[in-house]
Amino acid sequence: MKVLITGGAGFIGSHTADLLLEKGYEVRILDSLEPPVHPQKRKPDYLCADVEFILGDVRNKSDVQEALQGIDYVFHLAAYQGYLTDFSKFAFTNDASTALIYEVILENALPVGKVVLASSQAVYGEGRYHCARNGTQYPPPRPLEQLERGDWELRCPVCQQPMEPLPTNESRVSPHNQYAVSKYCQELYALTLGRRFGIPTVVLRYSITQGPRQSFYNAYSGILRISATRLLQNLPPILYEDGKQLRDYVYVKDVAAANILAMESKAATYQTYNIGGSEVLSVREYVKLLSKVVGREIIPEIPGEFRFGDVRHIVSDISKIRELGWQPRTSLEQIISEYLEWAMEQPEVGDFYTEASQVMKRMGVIRAAR
Ligand SMILES: NC(=O)c1ccc[n+]([C@@H]2O[C@H](COP(=O)([O-])OP(=O)(O)OC[C@H]3O[C@@H](n4cnc5c(N)ncnc54)[C@H](O)[C@@H]3O)[C@@H](O)[C@H]2O)c1
Repeated sequence: MKVLITGGAGFIGSHTADLLLEKGYEVRILDSLEPPVHPQKRKPDYLCADVEFILGDVRNKSDVQEALQGIDYVFHLAAYQGYLTDFSKFAFTNDASTALIYEVILENALPVGKVVLASSQAVYGEGRYHCARNGTQYPPPRPLEQLERGDWELRCPVCQQPMEPLPTNESRVSPHNQYAVSKYCQELYALTLGRRFGIPTVVLRYSITQGPRQSFYNAYSGILRISATRLLQNLPPILYEDGKQLRDYVYVKDVAAANILAMESKAATYQTYNIGGSEVLSVREYVKLLSKVVGREIIPEIPGEFRFGDVRHIVSDISKIRELGWQPRTSLEQIISEYLEWAMEQPEVGDFYTEASQVMKRMGVIRAAR
C-alpha cells in the first residue's frame, strides 16, 4: 500500500512517514521545501532514504497529478501557518491545494482509499466557556481596545461577567484569524467533496504539537521551540499577555499514531477528531516545567505584548478520538526533555525569535498593551 504525504518533509509529516514505513507502507512525499522551515530548500537529513521524494508544490496541478499516481492513501499536511498578514497565501496554499487534490482524484478516477486532512485546534477561536448565569458560551474574539488595555480575560457576551474556560469538543467552530479560516475552509472542501464524490475523508484537528524536528527557523510560533532556542542562547523565554493562557500540548509521535489510526479505521471515515494532550498548563506553568527539566530556574520576560489574532485559553476535548482507540501516551516532561536533547545536538541553533518578532511587530501582529 502506498501513502502520499503532502508536506512530508516537515515536522508532523516526517514522523508520520517514519511510522508508516515501520508498519510496512510505502511512502511518497510531495513537498516544496518552503522557508522558513527549510531555509536552504534542502531535503532534510532526517527523512528516511526509503521515502520517495517529489519536490513540488501542492498548488500546482501537474505536481499534484504526478504525486497522486498509484496512491492508496493521502495525508494532506502541507500548509502555510502562522499569524502574518499575507492573507491570500493562507487561502492559496491551504484551501486551493485541498480543492485541487479532490479535483485530481475525481478527474482521474483515482482509487484513493482515504484522505486524512490536517486541521487545527485554531478553528475553535476562543473556544467554549461556562458562565455561571448564562451557561455555555462561545465568545467572539476579544476587541482590540480590550487587549490594548492589557485586559486579557474573556467575559460573558450576555452579562459581561468573567467566565470559566472549558475543554472544547468538535461540535462548534469559530475561526477568528486568517490561518484558522483557511484550516476550516480546508475541512469544508475535504468533507463536502469527499462525501459528495465518495472519497473517504477524515479531518484531524491537532492541538499544539511538539517534539524533535520542529524547525527552529520558524520562530513565528511554538512555545517550546522558541523557549528552547532562546535558552540555548542564554536568553529568557518571552511570554505574551500575562502568561496565564491555558493550552494543551501533544507529542508528535502520538500525533503520527493518530494519523495512521484515522487512515486505517473505517469508523473514522467522514468524521472530525480533536488530537490533543492530556495535560493542561498555563504558559507560565509551562516555563516552570521547562525550569524543572533543565534543572535551573528560568524567569520569563512578560513585557505585556500580545499577538493580535491569538486566543486566550484553548484546550481540546479528546473524548471522541479516545473512543476510537487513541490516547496521548507521552508526558509533557518527556516531550520537553526529548526536544531539548535533540535541540542541543543541532548545529544551527540561533535566536531566530528576535528577527521573527521584529517582522511580527512591523506587520502589527505583535502589539504592546498601553
Ligand atoms: N505543528 C503544530 O503544532 C500543528 C498544530 C495544528 C495543526 N497543524 C497542521 O499540521 C500540518 C503539518 O504541520 P507541521 O507542524 O508539520 O508543519 P511544518 O511547517 O513542519 O511542515 C509543513 C511542510 O509543508 C511544506 N509546504 C508548505 N507549503 C507547501 C506547498 N505549497 N507545497 C508543498 N509543500 C509545502 C513545507 O515545506 C513543510 O515541509 C499543517 O497542515 C498544520 O496546519 C500543525
